[in-house]
Amino acid sequence: MKKFVRWNGPPRGQKYNARASSELACDKHVSMKWAGCFRQAPIWFSIAIFCSVGSLALPAAESDTDAWLRYSALDASSAKQYDQLPTRVEVLDDSPVLKSAQHELIEGISRMLGRTLRAGSDRRDVFLLGTLAEMHQRIPGLKLPELRAEGYWLKADQISGEKFFVIASSTDRGVLYGVFALLSKIARRETVTNLDDAETPYAPLRWVNQWDNLDGSIERGYGGPSIFFADGKVRDDLKRAGDYARLLASIGINGCTINNVNADPRILRDDFIPQIKRIADAFRPWGVQLALSVDLGSPKALGDLDTFDPLDPKVAEWWKKKVDEIYQQIPNFGGFVVKADSEGQPGPSTYGRTPADAANVIARALKPHGGLVFYRAFVYNHHLDWQDLKADRAKAAYDIFHPLDGKFDDNVIIQIKNGPIDFQVREPASPLFAGVPHTNEGIELQITQEYTGQQRQLCFLVPMWKEVLDFDMRIGNEATPVKELVAGRVFHRPLGGFAGVANVGMDANWLGSPLAMANLYGFGRLAWNPNLSAETIIEEWTRQTFGNDPLVVHTIDAMQLSSWHTYENYTGPLGTGTLTFITGNHYDPAPESSERNGWGQWHRADHNGIGMDRTMATGTGFIGQYPPAVQKMYESLDTCPDNLLLFFHHVPYTYVLHSGKTVIQYIYDSHYEGAEQAAGLVAQWKTLRGHVDQQRYNDVLPRFEYQAKEAIVWRDTICDWIYRLSGIPDQKGRIRQASTFAADLRRAS
Ligand code: GCU
Repeated sequence: MKKFVRWNGPPRGQKYNARASSELACDKHVSMKWAGCFRQAPIWFSIAIFCSVGSLALPAAESDTDAWLRYSALDASSAKQYDQLPTRVEVLDDSPVLKSAQHELIEGISRMLGRTLRAGSDRRDVFLLGTLAEMHQRIPGLKLPELRAEGYWLKADQISGEKFFVIASSTDRGVLYGVFALLSKIARRETVTNLDDAETPYAPLRWVNQWDNLDGSIERGYGGPSIFFADGKVRDDLKRAGDYARLLASIGINGCTINNVNADPRILRDDFIPQIKRIADAFRPWGVQLALSVDLGSPKALGDLDTFDPLDPKVAEWWKKKVDEIYQQIPNFGGFVVKADSEGQPGPSTYGRTPADAANVIARALKPHGGLVFYRAFVYNHHLDWQDLKADRAKAAYDIFHPLDGKFDDNVIIQIKNGPIDFQVREPASPLFAGVPHTNEGIELQITQEYTGQQRQLCFLVPMWKEVLDFDMRIGNEATPVKELVAGRVFHRPLGGFAGVANVGMDANWLGSPLAMANLYGFGRLAWNPNLSAETIIEEWTRQTFGNDPLVVHTIDAMQLSSWHTYENYTGPLGTGTLTFITGNHYDPAPESSERNGWGQWHRADHNGIGMDRTMATGTGFIGQYPPAVQKMYESLDTCPDNLLLFFHHVPYTYVLHSGKTVIQYIYDSHYEGAEQAAGLVAQWKTLRGHVDQQRYNDVLPRFEYQAKEAIVWRDTICDWIYRLSGIPDQKGRIRQASTFAADLRRAS
């Protein structure tokens, strides 16, 4: 038992890095040790829980690999409503994707309903899986709906007394999505009688990015080592890559880049491509296209040329040959993601060229094969002059990409992070979403919780992502929410969509924490339909992951839905950004680390006030990058929302918010509230003892106990810091020798 008492949650102290692999090795080491802590914890917990509740009938532990695809057996009365479902399945083609769809349907029905579907072509009592064209041939009388690519149709019907259940789409992939949708309904006990359900994805491109390194580490990965690479090579056993593709397909993801955006040029070596092909083969049955991050300097770095100037014909030829070579081996290759001129990555600026020059040279090589370039807008100078009050990293993406609007080829997508800085706990939507109306664009969201608790703390990000997606840019003073811009639904751009930085790893539950998987699920669901509410998404996830017990569903949903605000409360209220260890692990509280360096994540707190003045009148002018109606809202203190106040304005600590509180009192209060809310997570989880399987109950409980302590460390560090800076006491008299207390707590735990 002693071991458990002394267990102190995840290890701390990862080094800051943007790309250095020696530091990445440290990240890997740390995350593996952390996983080890949890691997040990359940043993002690199992003993303790067994002793205290040994006689309760608990739900059985289930596979973590399956995540939300557990297909737990329904009890007899819930299963009854599905008695009318067909007993056979017929697939109208034998493509690998349709075979996966058939297999998944058989497996899901068998596990949930205890029935074995037989393969067969008896029209009377059959699931029919196929494309619309095939369906038309099979049942000429069937009235087919209009479906855009990859949309699906679920239809329970009868013609001339013959009963059938159609799962159709215009593509094989869409049929697979339809099967997953049906199985999800059954897992959630939704009725499927007389179903007539047609859905099409909101955006054509729904990709995840993995930031895996060839040595097997993952940049900003908290779920163990890479599922693709180990020791500089592709892993021999790629079963997990296939399992991952299945999970991705179940939420409609159709592309995956497998390597770090700080790309290692060796990924394009001739002898590496056959290895990559093996991963593409593992993805293919699930309709997931493989893509690569590339280093723009590759033509030179690989030793083939003495330049990587995108306008040099030799360079264009090099990319063409390389791309042809890839397609020869991977005919359904998706394309490239490019990080250039950013945090030390080589880029077109070396030759005085623009991102459009760089993107287009690669895009032209890919075009004949149907491949795409996602060119990241995360381009900025990380050696800014911190003493220059007009300098502002937030301005960089718009300053660089807006003037190039319309100059990118039509198979290039500008991949824009949700906010103008870097995945902070709260940022406004990037103004660049409204700044490239003649260019394809996509939104980049971070599923891996780099700045939001690193999967050691609960932070369900769907509510945050929805705020950005729903944010109205008011272009031309008309409703133009970000979701429509990134999906190419306005300005008639052919492509657009979503990229989610996922960073799953070898840990049994993929992201290193079972509850963090809601973020991966939620990302896929939003990419499919950003109009779904956060409540709907989490309810779907909880029911599929933990079952339909109302107490479990209600409790976990509530915990997840409040978790972002809780985390924001104690780490970065009022839009300060996360007051974390910017030059270190992006996790611990370290508010001074943001200042006096060139990284530009400044909060400008001094003895008199706090916040970045980004106004047009007196500040950096960043607000001027938004369309006029949005400018107006943020520029004025009267209309700027409290939760972004310090992102846009520098104000005295005594400034009174719309809520009536002063800024300083709000900061004190939100930290105390946040720490209380974090403590409440422990109590909430404890109500589920005996309602979720023992293994996951035991796994999750110490995570919340740890989070409750971390929230106190954050609270006391920040309150103490800001009290010393401002000299203004907490009206409630709570701030006393806080940092000493935080240090004691750490020592004691
Ligand atoms: C953040 C992150 C880096 C990453 C970068 C990116 O800065 O800390 O590890 O490389 O984002 O998105 O390129």
